[in-house]
Amino acid sequence: MMNPSGNSVMLACDHGYFMGPTRKLENPRETIKPLVPYADALAVTRGVLRSSVDPTWNVPILLRVSGGSSILQQDLSDEGLTVSMADAVRLNVCAVAISIFVGTAHEKQTLLNLAKLVDDGQEVGMPVMAITAVGKELEKRDARYLGLACRLAAEIGANMVKTYYCEDFSRVVEGCPVPLVVAGGPKLNTEADVFNLAHDAMGAGAKGVDMGRNIWQNDHPVAMIKAIRAIVHEGASAKEASDIFAASAAGKITV
Ligand code: R5P
Repeated sequence: MMNPSGNSVMLACDHGYFMGPTRKLENPRETIKPLVPYADALAVTRGVLRSSVDPTWNVPILLRVSGGSSILQQDLSDEGLTVSMADAVRLNVCAVAISIFVGTAHEKQTLLNLAKLVDDGQEVGMPVMAITAVGKELEKRDARYLGLACRLAAEIGANMVKTYYCEDFSRVVEGCPVPLVVAGGPKLNTEADVFNLAHDAMGAGAKGVDMGRNIWQNDHPVAMIKAIRAIVHEGASAKEASDIFAASAAGKITV
């Protein structure tokens, strides 16, 4: 899942497991297909992998294996494991991903889910990504909280952590002894906001992104992922990424 640059642009398309047919991911195959050539890994659920990912696409799969709550619940943290390790192996995925909800009523349950997944993964050599989920409480995304959640994930044995970017993100990175990638979160106001987020996260020590809505909810998703790749793999600035986006969206960059 890691590019030779040492970093990764993971394309997150697993939102349906709790959001249903969310905007621009109503038909997962249509959304994913044009973006696959630019993704170092594709984050999906078992159902989308089976139904909407063509085996010939040849992209590493990061399989979402936790769930159990939907957006109809006020508290999204009541999750369990939704896929066995045997099926993850059978589906030939490269890693499995699970949310933990630190500081919620289901903190212990989700941390023990992670511990079980790491144990099961150890049996078969399957890497585990922990996701420091915040549910609907987006305001939780600060360095103190995310630093705590990422560290807990690493201590329990996650091989990699996905978290959110925040102010003082280098504190989160420094306190986490395994690689971190950042999610994009809900769609930001401008493309420049997304490029700044990715650039600042990389500058603070992230190993890449696992980004969804800010790519595929954009009117020019391929241009977005190309620009993000330039930041993650080539160290492009946010301004250079904006230029790549504009040129690609205008059809001036076709590869
Ligand atoms: C939630 O469904 C998942 O963890 C997403 O994969 C994660 O939030 C990244 O997607 P986005 O960039 O849209 O936040």
